[in-house]
Amino acid sequence: MAVSSLGASAARTLVPTAPGALPLLGHSISLLRDPLTLLLGLPAYGDLVRLRIGSGDVYAVCTPELTHELLHDPRTFDKGGFFFDRLRELTGNNVASCPHAEHAAHRRRVQPIFRKDRMPGYGRTIVDQADTVLGAWRHDRTIDAFPDMLRIGAGCAAALVFGAGFTPDALERTISDITLYVKGIFTRMFLPPALARIPLPANRRYQAVRARLRHAVSDMIDRNRTAGGAIGGDLLTALLESAPATPDSRADLVDELILMLMAGTESTATTLAWTLHELSRDSALQQRMQAEIDTVVGADAPTHAHIRHLHLTARVLTETLRKYPAAWILSRVTTKPTVLGGHPIPAGAPIIFSPYLQHHRPDIYPEPDRFDPDRWLPENQHPAMRKALIPFGGGTRKCAGDSFAMSEASLVLAS
Ligand code: HEM
Repeated sequence: MAVSSLGASAARTLVPTAPGALPLLGHSISLLRDPLTLLLGLPAYGDLVRLRIGSGDVYAVCTPELTHELLHDPRTFDKGGFFFDRLRELTGNNVASCPHAEHAAHRRRVQPIFRKDRMPGYGRTIVDQADTVLGAWRHDRTIDAFPDMLRIGAGCAAALVFGAGFTPDALERTISDITLYVKGIFTRMFLPPALARIPLPANRRYQAVRARLRHAVSDMIDRNRTAGGAIGGDLLTALLESAPATPDSRADLVDELILMLMAGTESTATTLAWTLHELSRDSALQQRMQAEIDTVVGADAPTHAHIRHLHLTARVLTETLRKYPAAWILSRVTTKPTVLGGHPIPAGAPIIFSPYLQHHRPDIYPEPDRFDPDRWLPENQHPAMRKALIPFGGGTRKCAGDSFAMSEASLVLAS
């Protein structure tokens, strides 16, 4: 049978459905209440499993092979679906959310700021940001690490994007808005779209945060223009140079900047906070890491040049990204009728894939709940482990800031 002749109902009969769908709401409540348990249970039903959000179908990919196919065929599996539809509401059409046809042009505009030769300079900014926050830590105090890691993450992302332009107050407000917004995106991903549009207090708060964030970024552009470009960071400067000064390009600029600020803040902060959580539970590991940092860095301030000698630190971070991938669920949408895992899928079908699900497959990572950095020692690794590890995604849409994020996380830990 020709794939193009298959409609949604034909695909529905062929892909197994996860149990537990409620009338009208489908799996929305389970996804909101305990998404990780739901995700981890899916491989028991098949390599590709159908979920229901409201009255619509969503296909969940459960194997590394199918995820690989999804990530490496962006013409068929384009950006879209639950996660990216919500992201577009805030950040419009930018490098992370734009369709495949526009992606190369977007990526070319931002790629220069992530060039390898820029990393040593960023290293100094990262260590300065870390010192400002960590300088307030005291030995005998319990620390809630996540807010402090957010402060460092936002400081680094803001420096990369806006240079020295953010005032401490504006930065603090932006951190809180980004956190609220990321939570809002998550809730809206799994609600039927009509519910997310009702003017409930939560929906109004979400819209207010969106407006505030856009205003803060727009204000930064004006301040940079008034200062003759003197306070802009690498990204703002690069984008202003490449864009004509029209109202449309102004909106595009806000979209691109706000995305980078969001992408650079939460994910690295989450990774660092989970790393500190694991270290706080394992004093032997903590001592081994301290010894490595003492040997490699000594009493000096850590620099970018130290990073490649911090082998255990790198394994600890890799294990954090495996066990706690910050981008734990992502989506795509089919642009045409296709076949995935032997199943016909109609055009316009939302598909989710989950680095979390993949990183917790016991057939690839034995005892997946155990935090074990030494599973990444060369003698303990097998090729499937690396292949299935996708904390930064893959293919043409792989994270643009992966090296920046790894440098940031290593230098903050070393600090
Ligand atoms: C530990 C930290 C980070 C993690 C786990 C992470 C994860 C990801 C993932 C999984 C994607 C791909 C999404 C998809 O395929 O749908 C992505 C894309 C992206 N990330 Fe990151 N990210 C991190 C840090 C950063 C930082 C620090 C920046 C920038 C300062 C950044 C900028 C971007 C951009 C621009 C994209 C879009 C790439 C494209 O579509 O061309 N990320 N990130």
